[in-house]
Amino acid sequence: MRTFLFLLVSLLAAFVPSATATVLAIDYGSDWIKASLMKPGVPFDVLLNKDSKRKIQSSVGWKKDDRLFGQDAANLASRFPADSFSSTKLLLAAPYDSPAVSYYKSISSNEVVQTERGTAALKRSDGTEWTPEELIGMEFAYVKGLAETMAGEKVQDVVVTVPPHFTQFERDAIVDAIEISGLRTLALINDGAAVAVNYAMTRNFPEEEYHIIYDAGASAIRATVVSFLTNDAGQTAIQVHGVGFDRSVGGTELDRRLREILADDFNAKHKRDIRKDKRGMAKLWKEAGRVKAILSANNDAISNVESVAWDIDFKTKVSRKALEAASSDLQSKFAQPIFKALINAGLSLDQISSVIFTGGATRTPMIQTAVKKAVGENKISLNVNADEAAVLGAALYGASLSRQFRTKDIKLTDINTHDMQVSYFAAATSPNAKPRTITTSIFPAGTKTGSKKTLTLKRKEDFRLNLDYKKESVPGFPTRILEVELSDVKEAIANLTEAGAVDPVVKATLKLSDSGFVSVSEAVAYGEVKSIAGKLKGLFTGSEDQTVVDAEAAPESEKKEPVDGEKEEEKEPVPNTIPLKLKTHFTTIPPMTVEQKKTARSRLRAIDADETAKNRREEARNTLEGYIYKLRDLLDDDAGTGPFTICSQDSERKAIARQLEETMEWMHEKADIAETSQFLDRRVALETLERPITHRYVEREAFPQALNNSQMWNWSTRLFLTDARQNLTEEAAQGLNSKWTKEELDALEKTLKEHETWLNTWVEKQKSVKQNEDPAIETTEMRARAKVLEQHLQKLYKRPAPKRAKKKKVVEETVKKEEDEKKAEETTQAEQAKETPHDEL
Ligand SMILES: *[C@@H]1O[C@H](CO)[C@@H](O)[C@H](O)[C@H]1NC(C)=O
Ligand SMILES: *[C@@H]1O[C@H](CO)[C@@H](O)[C@H](O)[C@H]1NC(C)=O
Ligand SMILES: *[C@@H]1O[C@H](CO)[C@@H](O)[C@H](O)[C@H]1NC(C)=O
Ligand SMILES: *[C@@H]1O[C@H](CO)[C@@H](O)[C@H](O)[C@H]1NC(C)=O
Repeated sequence: MRTFLFLLVSLLAAFVPSATATVLAIDYGSDWIKASLMKPGVPFDVLLNKDSKRKIQSSVGWKKDDRLFGQDAANLASRFPADSFSSTKLLLAAPYDSPAVSYYKSISSNEVVQTERGTAALKRSDGTEWTPEELIGMEFAYVKGLAETMAGEKVQDVVVTVPPHFTQFERDAIVDAIEISGLRTLALINDGAAVAVNYAMTRNFPEEEYHIIYDAGASAIRATVVSFLTNDAGQTAIQVHGVGFDRSVGGTELDRRLREILADDFNAKHKRDIRKDKRGMAKLWKEAGRVKAILSANNDAISNVESVAWDIDFKTKVSRKALEAASSDLQSKFAQPIFKALINAGLSLDQISSVIFTGGATRTPMIQTAVKKAVGENKISLNVNADEAAVLGAALYGASLSRQFRTKDIKLTDINTHDMQVSYFAAATSPNAKPRTITTSIFPAGTKTGSKKTLTLKRKEDFRLNLDYKKESVPGFPTRILEVELSDVKEAIANLTEAGAVDPVVKATLKLSDSGFVSVSEAVAYGEVKSIAGKLKGLFTGSEDQTVVDAEAAPESEKKEPVDGEKEEEKEPVPNTIPLKLKTHFTTIPPMTVEQKKTARSRLRAIDADETAKNRREEARNTLEGYIYKLRDLLDDDAGTGPFTICSQDSERKAIARQLEETMEWMHEKADIAETSQFLDRRVALETLERPITHRYVEREAFPQALNNSQMWNWSTRLFLTDARQNLTEEAAQGLNSKWTKEELDALEKTLKEHETWLNTWVEKQKSVKQNEDPAIETTEMRARAKVLEQHLQKLYKRPAPKRAKKKKVVEETVKKEEDEKKAEETTQAEQAKETPHDEL
C-alpha cells in the first residue's frame, strides 16, 4: 500500500509547479514520534531517523552537555534519570496540582516544578527548568532537522496529530511547542480523523459506510465513528460522527502495572525497596516495556536486568496471566470508548462495517480480546498500519491544505469532543432585578469544526464573554477556557443611535476552528436604520431584561456574515455596524505569552548554536589530528624513495618535523581546552610547510600530459595552417571564395608563434629545475595558454564553407548575362566579404 501511495502522490505532484510545497507531518505520541514529509520528487513515506528507524522515541535528554534524542535519550534514564525526559506529552498544560502531574510522577523520577503559569515543568540535574512545550519543541526541532536533511531544503509547515479529546489548553501547548521549534502550524488534526484520511486514500465508497477507528495509544484509548462516502465526482467525504475516549487506560498504564509487578518481585526477593532507587526504577521502566512486548506474543517472559540497583542482578519470570490479573480493573474499560462513541454518534454497532485497529497498544492481547468480545471478531479490521496510518493520513491532509499537491479529493469534517458554552454577567437593570450570569451552550460536543455562531446581545456597556467547557474535561483541569473583553460598546451604540438606529445590539461571532480552537472571531455593534424609527421606538423599552440573548435564545448558525444590512444600505447610506474592540484574557491555564515563547526560542537557539560550535570544534580537532598522522607517514620514509622525500629538501623536512613535534605536544596538553580557531591555525601552519612540497610532485606528475597537450595543439595548428594556405592560394587562382582570408590565417600563425616561443622558453627553464625545487612553470598555465591557441584554431576550423551558388568564373564567361543580374551578384559578394571579418570577433 505504501508503494501505491507513493506513486499516487508523486505522480500527482509532478503536475504541480515546483514551488516549495514541503509539508511535514508529525504524529506525536507520548511514547513514539512518527513523521512524514510531503515534497514533490521525494518518495512519500515515513521519515527515517539517523539509525534508519521508522519511529523515534519521544524523548530528549542530556549527557552532561550533550543533548540526545530518541532512544539515546531514553536510554540515559538508567544512568542519569534526572536528565532524561520521556512521556512529556502527559504534562501538556497540566496544572501543577492536577492528577495528570501526580500520575507523571508515578511513572517518572524527574523532578517536577511549578511554572509561573501554574503548569508543570521539569528540572534537570544542573538546576535548569524546562517546560513540556520546550522539551517537545526540541523534539519537533530534531524532527525538523531530519526532514530538512531528507528534503535538502528548509522545512517549515507542519501538521501535528492530537488525540480528539485534547482540550484547548493542550492544543495551545502543542502549538506553542511547534512555534518554539521553529516550525509553523499548518493545522492540528485529531488522530482518529488522520487515520480515516489514510483509510480513504486507497478506497472508494460508492455506498456510505460507517467505521470506527479504534486507537489504543500510550496515554489513552479512543474510538472515532467515521462515515465515508464517495460521490459521482470522485470526492470522498469523511465525516466524524462521535468520539469516545478514556484517558486512564493505555500502553503507559500497562507499563506502570508491569513495573509494579517487577518491583514487588524484586523487593520480595532481595528484601530491599527498589522504589527508593531512581536509577533502578528507570531501569525497570525500560524493562517493563520490553517484557510487555514479549508478553504480546508469548505467555511468559524472562526478565533479566543486570545491576538493577545495589549491584544486584535481577532475574525473574513474568507471565501474561500475571499482567492481566494486575490489570483486571482495566479490562472493562478497553472497549468502552467504542460504545461511548456510538452513543455520541447516535448509531448502533450493527450499522458499523468494521472497527479499524490502530495504535501500538492494540497489539496487547488483553486489549484485543476485550474489543473482540465486545464487538465481535468479524468486525475487527487490521488493514491499516497500526503505527503509521495516523502520520501518513496527517501528511495527506497537510498536502490537501497546502494546495500545492493534487492528492485524492477528500473532504474531511471533524467534530469537537467536549461541550462548550458561553457565559456572561448581566447587571441588574431595574432596582428589583438581581444581577446574574447567563450561560448558553455554544458548541455542544459533536459540533462540526469550522462552525461559526453569532450571539445577539442587548448590551449598552463593555462586557466580557466567557468561554467554558460545560464539564471538567480532564480531572483537575479548569472549565474556563478564556474570557473575551468587548469594549467601545457604549460609544458604538451611541453612534448608531445617533445615526437613527433603533435598539442597536451587540453581535459576537464565535468560531470553532478546524484545529479545534474556540474563539470570539468578531464582534460588532449592530442597528437597523429605518425611516420610521420614531414609530418603533419604545417597542423594546418595557422589556425587564435587556441582557438576555436576543429573541432566539439559541445562537443562530452563521451561514454568511449576518451583519451587513444590505437592504437598508440602498435606502440609507448610513453604516449600521461598528466593529468593537476584542481582548482575550486567559484566567486559568494561559498559553505561553509571545515573550515567553521568544525566550524559549532563544534558549533552544542558544543550545543549537552551542552544538554547532561544538561540532565545528570537534571537526577542526579531528581534521588536525588526521593531518598530523598523514604528515608523520610522509616524513617516515627511511628508504628515502617516497615522492615526498624526493620532492623536498632536507631543511624543509626538518622544519616540518619541528613544527609537527610542537603541534603534537600542544595537542597532548591543550587540545581539550583549545578553541576551534587554534586547531585551524595549527593546521594552516603545518600546511604552509607541506603544501609546496606536495605541489611539486603533483606538478611533476601532471607535466608530461600538459606538455603533450600543448604540443598537440601546436602541431595541429601548424598542420592546419599549411593546408589552409595552400587551399587559399588554389582558390584564389580559380577565383573562388575561401573560408578564410589571408589576414585571418596570419593572425592564427601569430598566436601559434607566441605559444611556441613561450613553450620553448619555459620548457627549457623547467628542464633545469631540480625535483626538490618549485617548478618553473605551472601546468595550469600551460593548459590555459594551449587553450588560447586551441580556441583560435577551432574558430577558423569550424567555420562553414562559403556559399558558392554561382561561380564567379561562370559569370565572367556568360557575356550575355543581363546587367542587373550581375549587379545583384556583386552585392551578394560584397556582403559576404563584409561578413567575414565580423566572424573573427
Ligand atoms: C463614534 O463617532 C465619533 C464621531 O464620529 C468617532 O470619532 C468615534 O470613533 C466613533 N466611535 C466608534 C466606537 O465607532
Ligand atoms: C601524447 O598524446 C598522444 C595522443 O593522445 C599519445 O599517444 C602519447 O602517448 C602521449 N604522450 C605522452 C608523453 O603523454
Ligand atoms: C611546435 O610545432 C613545431 C612544428 O610541428 C615544432 O617544430 C616545434 O618544435 C613545436 N614546438 C614545441 C615547443 O613543441
Ligand atoms: C583544403 O582543401 C581540401 C580539398 O577541398 C579539403 O579536403 C581540406 O579540408 C581543406 N583544408 C582545410 C584546412 O580546410
